[in-house]
Amino acid sequence: MSPLRRRALETPASVLFPFPDRPFLWGVAVSHYQVEGDDACDWTAWEAAGRTRGGACGPAVGSWARYEEDAALAAALGANAFRFSVSWSRVEPRRGRFDGEALARYARLVDRLAALGLEPVVTLHHYTHPPWFHGETPWTSPASVDAFARFAREAVRALGPAVRCFTALNEPFVLLLGGFLGGEIPPGLSDARAARLALDNLLAAHVAAAAEIRGACPGAAVGVAHNMMLFAPDRGRHPLDRALASRARRVYNGGLLEAFATGRWDLWIPPFARLKGRRDGLPSSLDFVGVNYYSRLHLRAGLGVPGLARFGYRDRTGRGLTDNGWEVVPEGLAEVLREASAAVGKPLLVTENGLADGSDARRASFLADHVAALSAVHAEGVPVAGYLHWSLLDNYEWLDGWGPKFGLVEVDRTTMARRPRPSAEVFRRLGERLLAERGSKG
Ligand code: FCB
Repeated sequence: MSPLRRRALETPASVLFPFPDRPFLWGVAVSHYQVEGDDACDWTAWEAAGRTRGGACGPAVGSWARYEEDAALAAALGANAFRFSVSWSRVEPRRGRFDGEALARYARLVDRLAALGLEPVVTLHHYTHPPWFHGETPWTSPASVDAFARFAREAVRALGPAVRCFTALNEPFVLLLGGFLGGEIPPGLSDARAARLALDNLLAAHVAAAAEIRGACPGAAVGVAHNMMLFAPDRGRHPLDRALASRARRVYNGGLLEAFATGRWDLWIPPFARLKGRRDGLPSSLDFVGVNYYSRLHLRAGLGVPGLARFGYRDRTGRGLTDNGWEVVPEGLAEVLREASAAVGKPLLVTENGLADGSDARRASFLADHVAALSAVHAEGVPVAGYLHWSLLDNYEWLDGWGPKFGLVEVDRTTMARRPRPSAEVFRRLGERLLAERGSKG
């Protein structure tokens, strides 16, 4: 690492987040693979191998050709921020060979966002990998850190200082649990040793990417998008269920937060995985915590099931389950924001929150209730710098394919026509009010 980069890494003092000129970000989130289309990567192979339900991603919703239209839709919904991710496989389809046109396409999107008054919130890694990655530089090897740093360098240089808000990694814990312990998503491993190495290298990759970001975009804020949930005992008073719920919370929500707060982690993931490690540069590499919050899981102890626990969603709030069966618990947003703030002591940004609701019957109240939870927690003094709704568009929902409809805007996948759902107007009005209250530009 060059002395200049090292210095940049150690002195994040010039970072001002929330941004003084835009203290509250109100917007939408998408990710490259779920919307762009025709992106050959590890997920494409995963789908071809029959490991997903609900169809292949294929052309997705065509955003690679329609990003400008999508940005204009977000602006019309009153957003002042737009979260998207950069496709590593498009940018580096062969190891070490970067595609200048792909990089230029993302730079054009950033220009368009700026012209529309939308703050770009850029994620460098959102689940997918180039086809060569797991074979040549897997997360279990330190070579992955160099590979990711090099991709990050090319990406941030191409996007330039116009971007001042990054999340290097989206949900590294979900990738870890699903990809290295559960075997459900690429690379499909169930191996405690691989998981330990992968976590070490993912966190090292975050630190390296933060250095690249700070080198190319001085003053930019660097975060991690962390999936957080509520965990509850299925049988309210059952001691084992209660113990499981509190352990799940400590590990799933708290493990990554503790690593970023202290540079150390020591996690026991039932039944066999102990992930222990240390990375001193981690705390200073983070300017904000991005929180992705969706729902609450109930846990019930059970012998002979993986992790000794059954997980399930129940409708305990009486609001009904979403189309993909998730419980709606708006007060949980306040709870996880308090938890993240107490653990790390840095500003927060809600980087995802939303629901699958094809009929749009629940989205308006979901939005209003979650925004009320966010305002309540902010009034308590928890520093929440913004809210980004998942998602602007209906999109490819990973293992569930084309089933769930998360969009404020509905997409007809034959014509790719976009049509705002009625709740999009509720989103606009809520944003107008919040931005006025928080003194932010629309
Ligand atoms: C999050 C993912 C995002 C989307 C939502 C529903 O965990 O980051 O890509 O799939 O869930």
